[in-house]
Amino acid sequence: MADRQLSSASITGRLAELGSVRWALHFAARRRVAAGEDIIELTIGEPDVPTPAALIDVAHNAMRAGRTGYAGGRGEQVLVEAIAAKYSKRSGRLINQENVVAFPGTQAALSICMLAMVEQGDAVLVPDPYYATYEGVVRATGADFIAVPMSAENGFCLTVEQLENAMVPNARVLLLNSPHNPTGAVLNDREIAAIGAFCQRHNMWILSDEVYEDLIYGKPFASPFDNDDLAERIIVASSISKSHAAPGFRSGWAVGPDWFITRVQSVAESILFGNQPFIADMTAHALTHADDTSKNMAIAYQRRIDVLLEVFGSCSGLKPLRPDSGMFMLVNVSATGLDGSKFASRLLDFGVAVMPGDSFGSQAYDFIRLSLTVEDETLRRAALRIVNCAETLLPGEQST
Ligand SMILES: Cc1ncc(COP(=O)(O)O)c(C=O)c1O
Repeated sequence: MADRQLSSASITGRLAELGSVRWALHFAARRRVAAGEDIIELTIGEPDVPTPAALIDVAHNAMRAGRTGYAGGRGEQVLVEAIAAKYSKRSGRLINQENVVAFPGTQAALSICMLAMVEQGDAVLVPDPYYATYEGVVRATGADFIAVPMSAENGFCLTVEQLENAMVPNARVLLLNSPHNPTGAVLNDREIAAIGAFCQRHNMWILSDEVYEDLIYGKPFASPFDNDDLAERIIVASSISKSHAAPGFRSGWAVGPDWFITRVQSVAESILFGNQPFIADMTAHALTHADDTSKNMAIAYQRRIDVLLEVFGSCSGLKPLRPDSGMFMLVNVSATGLDGSKFASRLLDFGVAVMPGDSFGSQAYDFIRLSLTVEDETLRRAALRIVNCAETLLPGEQST
C-alpha cells in the first residue's frame, strides 16, 4: 500500500468549475426534453443545416481510398496548403506552410496556442462578455484571467480605453473574438487598428478567434491578421465548424509567425499526434471550393432576428440587442426584475431553454442568450413563450 493518497494536478482544480458546469441549464433542459416535456432548446450554437453533401462525399471517398493512417503533426500537406492559400489571399502577404498548424477545431487551436504562449505569472486579457470556454483556455495554463469589461452602450465593441483600464503589468496576450459570441458584435478596421496599436505598445500577442468570419450580416469582416504591422504578434484560430455547418468533423487550424507555429506544433504533437487525413481532404476541399452554406445560414439568421425583434417589441421587460453576426441574440431581461440566470431558470417552466448571460462573463449578467438555430416558426413560438414569462413578472402587462 502506498503511504500517501493519489492526487490530481492543480489544473484539474483550476478547471473544475469551468467546463460543463457552465452549461448546467442546457443539460437540465435536455433531461426534461428526454422525459417528454415540450421545451424549445435555444441553448447551444449548432448549425441547423446539414454539412454540405459534397464535403461528406469527399470524406467518405477519402476513407474508402485509405486516407485513414496517421497524419503529419502539422497536418496533411493538402490541407496546410489550402489554409496557407486562404490567408495569403486574405492578407495579401505570403503565408507559407510553416505558418500553419491544423487542429481538431478552433477550441483545440486556442487551447494549445495559449499553452504555448503563457504560464503561471503571466496574464491574459479577455473582453467580457466572452465565449464560455475562454476562462478554461486561459486558466489551464496557470496564467491569470483578466476580464476586460465591455459595454452594452456601444453594442459590446471592445475599445482601447476598456483595455487600458483593465491592463496589468504581466499581460502577455489579448484573446480577441470578432465576430463575437455571444454579442454578435463585429469590429471594424479602425477599431482593430487601435486595438492592434495597444497590443504593440504593450508588446502583447493577439490570439484572434475568427470562427464566425463567414457569418456576418452585411458589415465587412476585419482581422488584425490582415494588418501587416501586426503580423509578428498575431495568431488566428478558426475552423469549418460554423462556415460549413460541420462542427462534428472537428477541423480547424492556427496561423501565425513561423517560429512560433513551429513551437506550437511541438505542443500539438505531444497532445494530438496529428489529425485525420480523410477530414483533412474534406477540409481542403471546403477551403478551395465555392459553397453557399454560410451565406444561406446568414440569410436565415437575419430573418429569425427580425422575428424575435417583432415579437419582443411588444414587451417592455425584454431589451434585445440586434447582433451583426453569428448565430445568437442577447436579450437584456433586467426590466423584469430578474437577472439572466434567474430568468432562464424560470423560463424553463414556460417551455424554453436559453443560456443565462453569466455563462459568458459578468457583463452579460442581465442577459439571456438565444440561439437562432431553430426553424422560424419554432423560434416565434419560443419568443411568444419568452414574452409570456416576462409578462408574468411585469404587473399590468399580462396579455392573455
Ligand atoms: C467564439 C467561439 N470560438 C470557438 C468555438 C468552437 O469552435 P470549434 O468547433 O471550431 O472548436 C465556438 C463554438 O461555438 C465559438 O462560438
